[in-house]
Amino acid sequence: PGRIERKHSDKDNKPVMGTGPSAPNLAALVLSPFPSSTPLTLIFFLFFYAKRLHPKNCLGVRQFAETMMCAVLYDAANSFIHQHFVEVSMSEEFLALPLEDVLELVSRDELNVKSEEQVFEAALAWVRYDREQRGPYLPELLSSIRLPLCRPQFLSDRVQQDDLVRCCHKCRDLVDEAKDYHLMPERRPHLPAFRTRPRCCTSIAGLIYAVGGLNSAGDSLNVVEVFDPIANRWEKCHPMTTARSRVGVAVVNGLLYAIGGYDGQLRLSTVEAYNPETDTWTRVGSMNSKRSAMGTVVLDGQIYVCGGYDGNSSLNSVETYSPETDKWTVVTPMSSNRSAAGVTVFEGRIYCESALQPPHGHLAPSSRHAQQALPTRSCLPWKQDVCLRGL
Ligand SMILES: *[C@@H]1O[C@H](CO)[C@@H](O)[C@H](O)[C@H]1NC(C)=O
Ligand SMILES: *[C@@H]1O[C@H](CO)[C@@H](O)[C@H](O)[C@H]1NC(C)=O
Repeated sequence: PGRIERKHSDKDNKPVMGTGPSAPNLAALVLSPFPSSTPLTLIFFLFFYAKRLHPKNCLGVRQFAETMMCAVLYDAANSFIHQHFVEVSMSEEFLALPLEDVLELVSRDELNVKSEEQVFEAALAWVRYDREQRGPYLPELLSSIRLPLCRPQFLSDRVQQDDLVRCCHKCRDLVDEAKDYHLMPERRPHLPAFRTRPRCCTSIAGLIYAVGGLNSAGDSLNVVEVFDPIANRWEKCHPMTTARSRVGVAVVNGLLYAIGGYDGQLRLSTVEAYNPETDTWTRVGSMNSKRSAMGTVVLDGQIYVCGGYDGNSSLNSVETYSPETDKWTVVTPMSSNRSAAGVTVFEGRIYCESALQPPHGHLAPSSRHAQQALPTRSCLPWKQDVCLRGL
């Protein structure tokens, strides 16, 4: 199922559906009235499939793209597979893959998984699907996945207890190696590097970024550094185009946004976005107001900045940024002016809590309170929520 099948009936020599209504078979039908591969049909099926990728059909579509030598569609299907690996690994198409394809897939850095344990389960499900034939491939599969990245409890309670693993000498060695990784951290450098490299190493997920800030002399910085918790190491990224302290940061769709801030002289309305895959910063749409020390959150794929300080006063204004349109829109202001507020998202609402600050002044304890908002596009008003205890 899901494979490309262009069956020809004897009578009229037109392609007909193969087994099951999978996407590639449909393509054969759709394309049949056209002479093969005119630019028009190519563009047509690109749109047709790129829009219809689904965990249940993406492996078939990738195969189809390969047969048609269509690199754009192949890449689109491939990144879809990586992005939705867990769902893909539960599909019939995945279970029917040949060994080479499974090996290739589970070796990819780009797999989007919460933990390596999901890759282990996928590999094991593939073996169990045809235990007789595939059992002997288990050692090869287990050595392609990154067992040391599984939790020790999982290695002990799940991997080691599995009957397929238990009756395979090579597999037990691999589990021991993974356990040693946890037991003797000092020997980690001796392990094959790929087996301890976290997945998705080209995306922001799993890394910590330090963006701008002040040095000890009080100068604003454009320096950006990234910390890899697995390698236990900080590295410098490409610096921002502007020095920014008290800058707002947010991550949306794999891009890291540095928003406004203070460059040492002025509060900024400019915004730039960092792409970790290319290590580059690109200017994007500017905010309507200059602000530093604002609260920044992401809700439903949109960035929200709340309040902040423009150089003269604390602000009550709130703006939202849509990465699709590259535009900042002013939405309902908060009921109070706030700078350096704590903001967070909880169950679809933005909560903003801070001391209210007079322009340069002292905190006014009596006026501290928490607020909540329903920041939908319809811009329902901010509502006062319960105050923090003890304030
Ligand atoms: C701050 O106030 C000064 C003087 O009133 C004005 O010139 C300046 O534009 C103000 N800055 C901002 C960011 O509003
Ligand atoms: C509150 O913030 C708004 C802009 O967000 C500003 O125009 C106004 O002057 C501020 N009010 C005070 C009292 O600082």
